Amino acid sequence: MARIAYVNGCYLPIDAPAIQIEDRGFQFSDGVYEVWLVRDGQFLDHAGHLERLKRSLGELRIDLPMSDAALDVALRETLRRNRLGDALVYLQVTRGAARRDHAFPLKPVRPTIVITVRPAPRAPLAARAETGIGVITANDIRWKRCDIKSISLLPNVLAKQAAREAGAFEAWLINADGEVTEGSSSNAWIVTGEGALVTRPAGDDILNGITRQRIIRIAAAQGLRLEERAFTVEEALSAREAFISSATSMVMPVVSIDGRPVANGAPGSLAGALRESYEAGEQA
Ligand code: PDD
Repeated sequence: MARIAYVNGCYLPIDAPAIQIEDRGFQFSDGVYEVWLVRDGQFLDHAGHLERLKRSLGELRIDLPMSDAALDVALRETLRRNRLGDALVYLQVTRGAARRDHAFPLKPVRPTIVITVRPAPRAPLAARAETGIGVITANDIRWKRCDIKSISLLPNVLAKQAAREAGAFEAWLINADGEVTEGSSSNAWIVTGEGALVTRPAGDDILNGITRQRIIRIAAAQGLRLEERAFTVEEALSAREAFISSATSMVMPVVSIDGRPVANGAPGSLAGALRESYEAGEQA
């Protein structure tokens, strides 16, 4: 079945020519995006993603030309037209198309809105969680506003490619202080010998993952100890467990870093339990 995309109010085949040459997303990466995991037709953490979208748009001063209700209809209708129950839904919003000039268009233009959907079957994800993933490390060469979910992803692209070429699934980004900030498309976590969950505090240097926020709520509800603080690769290597979180991976155990095993090199039990809580839709 042909995949269908939403583009500025129209539902089109995914390969239809639909974006203008002078779209500022194409010319300048001048836009933001969001990603929802859909399970059985339900958008997980719908409100959280919507809230982060608005924050990202606000930081870039892009006005979404659509009400929440209209956007919601477009998201659900695009999903419906692709006939998928387990899916990933991507939303891209750019400042729109205008004669090329770095500064914002003098006369405001209508932002470009694109929604795409792709299958996210459960079995491959579950299989990956069974074995766990390897990560490599890469220098964090991104800009200083990683809290904005910008479509400008070149450092992330290069880091993920380096991971792929090394046979790893993700790259953990390392800042000038030798700390792990986050993954190229996920947040990074460890579990200490004492059983405390550790993840970097939300700030300008990471994307505050919606999955991350839900894990924090689940941890609080289950009485787990949480430490929002920086950690290094050395600490991660001697930790009891490590894992990543994102809408695409949910909770995914990390079993090696740069080819060195984390703990005994097998997925940790807390990551497994958190993954189950997350899948079960446990909120707090
Ligand atoms: N990535 N950090 C980065 C840099 C990310 O790109 C992502 C998500 C996350 C986790 O955020 P969330 O839990 O809200 O998915 C953290 C999405 C999934 C992507 O780029 O496809």
